[in-house]
Amino acid sequence: HGLSDFLVVSNRLPVDRVSTDDGGDGWRRSPGGLVTALAPVMASRDGAWVGWHGAPDENLAPFHHENMDLIPVPLSNDEVELYYEGFSNSTLWPLYHDVIAPPEFHRTWWDAYRKVNRRFAEAAAGAAAQNATVWVQDYQLQLVPRYLRQLRPDLRIGFFNHIPFPPPEIFAQLPWRQAIINGLLGADLIGFQRPGDTANFLRSARRFLGASVKAQQVHVGDADGAISHIARAEPFPISIDVGQIQELAARPDIIARSQQIREDLGNPKTILLGVDRLDYTKGITHRLKAYGELLHDGVIKVEDAALIQVASPSRERVESYRLLREEVEGMVGRLNGQFDTILNTAVRYLHHSYPVEEMVALYLASDVMLVTSLRDGMNLVAKEYVAARADNTGALVLSEFTGAADQLKQALLVNPHDIDGLKAIITRAINLPPREASRRMRSMRKQILAHDVQRWSSDFLSTLANEAVRDDR
Ligand code: G6P
Repeated sequence: HGLSDFLVVSNRLPVDRVSTDDGGDGWRRSPGGLVTALAPVMASRDGAWVGWHGAPDENLAPFHHENMDLIPVPLSNDEVELYYEGFSNSTLWPLYHDVIAPPEFHRTWWDAYRKVNRRFAEAAAGAAAQNATVWVQDYQLQLVPRYLRQLRPDLRIGFFNHIPFPPPEIFAQLPWRQAIINGLLGADLIGFQRPGDTANFLRSARRFLGASVKAQQVHVGDADGAISHIARAEPFPISIDVGQIQELAARPDIIARSQQIREDLGNPKTILLGVDRLDYTKGITHRLKAYGELLHDGVIKVEDAALIQVASPSRERVESYRLLREEVEGMVGRLNGQFDTILNTAVRYLHHSYPVEEMVALYLASDVMLVTSLRDGMNLVAKEYVAARADNTGALVLSEFTGAADQLKQALLVNPHDIDGLKAIITRAINLPPREASRRMRSMRKQILAHDVQRWSSDFLSTLANEAVRDDR
């Protein structure tokens, strides 16, 4: 296996190791927005992807899959519990998402986080050619840039945070806040989804490290006070593979499938769709509450409308996710018990993940897309829906608290905490005059078509290349 000039490093590889029904081993697409965005980028570039393959306690040699070179990093059972489920998803995830769930702080989790970050940095250092570019991804690996710079000062190091970066008032709670910022500052370029995330990070660097920050640049000093490098922080809102979604949305079999879905539902006047990982940041219970009240008020009739809620399984061993699942399934059960008829179902709840082909068929079948996150770094589902609606029909209800709301200004924007506001906007979406719907969709499509994920990655990487050059002088 040769050394690479370009490496992506993320907690997860784009595929998970799974055991198949016949007792063999197979690969399954990993969940979440990070993989959705980065897989097409990596498929079109030479380079290798360093990450965990999703199975605890399993060592795997580097391998080639769907045109990508994948370098697995092993995690033990304990590390999955302490580093992944613990520090990443029970400390950082809730802390970075407006403390919607209370973050937990445990020193043993932090120790595992450091140790695993060190391992990822070593794996990247061992796979990178001289002067290579290494692009580290997301909150699970915030210490990797610094470790990597120590191991390999020749590398160009980029970091991109896919989730929000919290304001210093909340970040302050983290007992290891200085180490995290120092870890990130090992990079030459630190990318965030929104300008607000960038500003939050820079304020924290100033407040907790006393760093000198000028025009999005942080002068990172070494122990004797000499400036060793400059780290730059900047927003790069991520996107989707627009071409792929458009191609799928034009495919006759997928169009036929979308018509089949409508028929299977009894051709209701309106189909509403929610697509989320089953995560408490997504505002699924708020959505169900509003929908239930609309049914109760008689504004929506179960014969006229169908709500499809795809909730893909996620982080199922983490307590807060288990509790959320119970809550959501309880709500769906009560709603359906109350409003179903022999013929009609109020909420189709699907606790599965589907291939992208089926997702696009669902986008085409649906009149209203509901994205009601309480906090969301970007939300790529909103962008996929827009990319799929080639005929400019359909309405997108979009939470203000998503990164996507910065770009999709013609969506029907809503504060999902405001249940009356949510009910009003869902009602408006259902009854949106076709001309208004088309005007809004046209404008959103224009934005999305001009900003796909290839552009995102080339913007980031060319800024990184320039940054490192400027720094060398
Ligand atoms: C979000 C995160 C990703 C993560 C994904 C799925 O999109 O930004 O880093 O991979 O969720 O979550 P999981 O814990 O299953 O990797």
